[in-house]
Amino acid sequence: MPYTARIDAAVRHAVKLAQSGPAPGKLAAAIEHAVLPGGARIRPQISLSVARACGDDKPGLADAAATAIELIHCGSLVHDDLPCFDDADIRRGKPSVHKAYGEHMAVLTGDTLIIMAFEALARQAQIDCQRAAGLTLELARSTGMPYGICAGQAWESEEEVDLSAYHQAKTGALFVAASRMGAIAAGADPEPWTELGARIGEAFQVADDLRDALYDEETLGKPVGQDEIHNRPNAVSAYGVQGAIRHLKDILGGAIASIPACEGEAELAEVVRRTAERLTPITTPQTA
Ligand code: IPE
Ligand code: IPE
Ligand code: MG
Ligand code: MG
Repeated sequence: MPYTARIDAAVRHAVKLAQSGPAPGKLAAAIEHAVLPGGARIRPQISLSVARACGDDKPGLADAAATAIELIHCGSLVHDDLPCFDDADIRRGKPSVHKAYGEHMAVLTGDTLIIMAFEALARQAQIDCQRAAGLTLELARSTGMPYGICAGQAWESEEEVDLSAYHQAKTGALFVAASRMGAIAAGADPEPWTELGARIGEAFQVADDLRDALYDEETLGKPVGQDEIHNRPNAVSAYGVQGAIRHLKDILGGAIASIPACEGEAELAEVVRRTAERLTPITTPQTA
């Protein structure tokens, strides 16, 4: 996929800043462990693709948006893996941060990554104050309460859970933010881009539930069967495997159709098509 090098450079720059000067060594190393070399970087790719489709007139802002989204995502995974949440020993094929550096460092790493994300946006205020403020608000909404990741994780502690509200907050919100922040970074109206992010986010979560149910730990690089073990609401228990696959294809079918008319429309459609391809084949091995 395109944009990989741009994302890598921007994210590495943020990590280097955090590691500079009098940085304590263990936390500096744990931050690097959590962010590099990273996972699929799907959210920042969406962000840069939308920014490009909207003209990308101030690339530094788009880079900051992409970096902030990825740092928040990495931080959420560090906290998610902690024993008090999912108690997961591996992430991206290597020991999770608390396994490698201890729980206290993992808590601090997640906290620091969240702060680094907002710092990356705040630094852009000198380039374009209004856009930087818009990006900050968007990221806050998709991360906190009542719409963001914190709300999503908290739904796992409620007795009654609406699957769609849970997925929307836990996973969907950051995809919506990725899409909308690409537009904001390029000075465009984010509203027409909400649906694209929502559709990709919903598809992604269904695909993730299928992977959790159907794949093995070695293939995924993280523990599997977690939804069943923790008795979590998920697309496979709600619709069955075949039903979840149908649902996934329905959502993806609508994603491309939802791309607003713009100059970079064709290129963006290609990015979404490739994203869809990456999500879909994973469902075939055990179900063919
Ligand atoms: C995993 O996200 C966590 C969920 C929101 C389900 P990704 O599959 O995007 O994780 P990485 O970044 O590629 O490791
Ligand atoms: C993690 O969700 C998503 C966050 C918001 C942190 P999951 O717990 O379902 O994802 P994995 O399986 O650990 O990646
Ligand atoms: Mg979890
Ligand atoms: Mg987890």
